[in-house]
Amino acid sequence: MGAPTAAPVPDDDELAALERLCVEFAVTAGRFIRDERPDRLGVAQTKSTDTDVVTVMDRRSEDLLHGLILEARPDDGILGEEGADVTGTSGLTWVIDPIDGTVNYLYDIPAYAVSVAVVVGDPSREGTWKPVAGAISDPSLRLVHHAREGAGAWTRPEEVGEAAAQRRLAVSSEHRLGRSLLATGFGYASDVRARQAEVLTRVLPLVRDIRRIGSAALDLVRVADGSVDAYAESGINAWDLAAGWVIVQEAGGVVVGRDGGAPGKALTVAAGPALATQVAPLFTTERA
Ligand code: IPD
Repeated sequence: MGAPTAAPVPDDDELAALERLCVEFAVTAGRFIRDERPDRLGVAQTKSTDTDVVTVMDRRSEDLLHGLILEARPDDGILGEEGADVTGTSGLTWVIDPIDGTVNYLYDIPAYAVSVAVVVGDPSREGTWKPVAGAISDPSLRLVHHAREGAGAWTRPEEVGEAAAQRRLAVSSEHRLGRSLLATGFGYASDVRARQAEVLTRVLPLVRDIRRIGSAALDLVRVADGSVDAYAESGINAWDLAAGWVIVQEAGGVVVGRDGGAPGKALTVAAGPALATQVAPLFTTERA
């Protein structure tokens, strides 16, 4: 389900080129954060609370992505988690999360990612944009997951020249809520977490089980490859969501928000179509 947008989608040749750049940039930044990870990470600053850790590597990864994007696509905009945004003139914006799963990264738990997407519309205004190409690198597994509109969703090893090893992604066919494995996540603010925990007391008895992996981007990849059946979370941002959105869609799933609208802060649900319509209402009382 796409969000309304006035901006034109690039033709398939340009989309294919953008997808290749998404893969290249996500892999480059993913290798960087994995290979350069210091033994003891410094905390550059805190955002909303002490648990929302912004590491030095988060900023260095975003700087690296900025440089790569500006060199290859000087007319495009950039929106990133660390906030050094660029206004473009092309109508395309790169939406980047330099490390998604920051807390996992901090603790050296191998479930973190770099998420790079190209979107049309204004990604700072929910409901006005949609991703057209994206890639999520999973540096711990040395994999990259990618898609562009209309061309399927794929996973391959991060090494260049491994195109033969591409695997096409497909969401799970599970449509029974009671048999569904549901990934979710929590915000950083304790009042938000309290409400999210309250919602889970109602959801948990209804599903097979819950997973909290700690990276929204990897949660979305898991929906796309069918290794979880659904994902639902409130409070996530465009950079957590953008690449995973197009990857799930191209794997045959839907990514929706509250009342079937565009996904975003109020709610993001990803699953096969039949399951998404059952999961979304369970989270509608959850507020970011
Ligand atoms: C967070 C992760 C986490 C999700 C949070 C996000 P960050 O992103 O994706 O899984 O539950 O809502 O903020 O801070 O690690 O980039």
